[in-house]
Amino acid sequence: MTVSFSIIQEDNRTMARAGVLHTLRGDVETPVFMPVGTQATVKTMTPREVEELGARLILSNTYHLYLRPGADLIREAGGLHRFMGWNGPILTDSGGFQVFSLASLCRIEDNGVWFRSHIDGSEHFFSPEKAVAVQEALGSDIAMAFDQCAPYPCSYEEAREATERTSRWALRCREASRREDQALFGIIQGGVHRDLREKSVKDLLALDFPGYGIGGLSVGEPKEVMYEVLDYTVPLLPPHKPRYLMGVGSPDCLLEGVARGVDMFDCVLPTRIARNGTVFTRDGKLVVRNAAYARDFRPLDPECGCYACRHFTRAYIRHLLKANEVLGIRLTTLHNLHFILELMRNIRRAILEGSFLEFKEAFLARWNKN
Ligand code: GUN
Ligand code: ZN
Repeated sequence: MTVSFSIIQEDNRTMARAGVLHTLRGDVETPVFMPVGTQATVKTMTPREVEELGARLILSNTYHLYLRPGADLIREAGGLHRFMGWNGPILTDSGGFQVFSLASLCRIEDNGVWFRSHIDGSEHFFSPEKAVAVQEALGSDIAMAFDQCAPYPCSYEEAREATERTSRWALRCREASRREDQALFGIIQGGVHRDLREKSVKDLLALDFPGYGIGGLSVGEPKEVMYEVLDYTVPLLPPHKPRYLMGVGSPDCLLEGVARGVDMFDCVLPTRIARNGTVFTRDGKLVVRNAAYARDFRPLDPECGCYACRHFTRAYIRHLLKANEVLGIRLTTLHNLHFILELMRNIRRAILEGSFLEFKEAFLARWNKN
């Protein structure tokens, strides 16, 4: 098995676990947050900086890299790791989400999906077999099955069709998978419907994937609804396999996800809001771009130990952002990634020490105060 998972410690009072994901490119401590490198780059950061921030596993996107620069080109470059200069493990999303959220859809059929590129309008076809072949060309360490993520809200019928198709596609992905050095994770769908989630888990468990993504969440539903879906879905998953909540997220959702037994997360949020001039602090989000910070000579987060907070002020970073200097978004990105990665390290330590629940409550009390 190319990827295996060991649980080091289970929390007594929540479903949280601390573990290690073993990959051919190194061990990854869980719970883990994966920075997003959609276009074979974690925007504005060098791989060395990403590593120095403590990231061990990053995510990239099949859909984007297939469209540009193309899977063949990346194969020719020696695979995605060599192409982008990141030697640690990489997880690729299958395109099953981006095709439905970014591309203009032409037709969904059982065989696959016809869509138009969001870049140049050209028409393409993605199927389970194609999504596996592209991810094999990229050479990621963990590939995701090609799924259909239903929007929120949508009718029960629409959610049911997407869920059942996802199960049929998962089988085809598994049959199409050839590479011995790449793990393929299944994805649970089912929207916000308990019976569909149960059916999805049952179908996917029968295929015995080495890990499971929980998809179709954080797509516009209220957070409480997402937590409720996790409450009844996660306990159905095998305890000894990694669980990956796709597209989540924010510090509060990470804590709530971990408390419900999730091991892996990814989200564009920290890097995306950084580029809009918003940063995380222990007291919640701060829009450093705002005029209120023009003469604020404190660090982004006075309690943060990252390079940006040790050397620069809010006033200076705001100035860079206003002047469109690239250093501005580099510093906010660096800080936000540090904040989230440090949060994950603190979560893990708290689980190991038996104080996760206290840690979670203290963090959220301060985070939600303002
Ligand atoms: N990223 C966030 N949500 C999803 C999902 O439901 N499916 C896939 N493939 N990727 C996601
Ligand atoms: Zn900082």
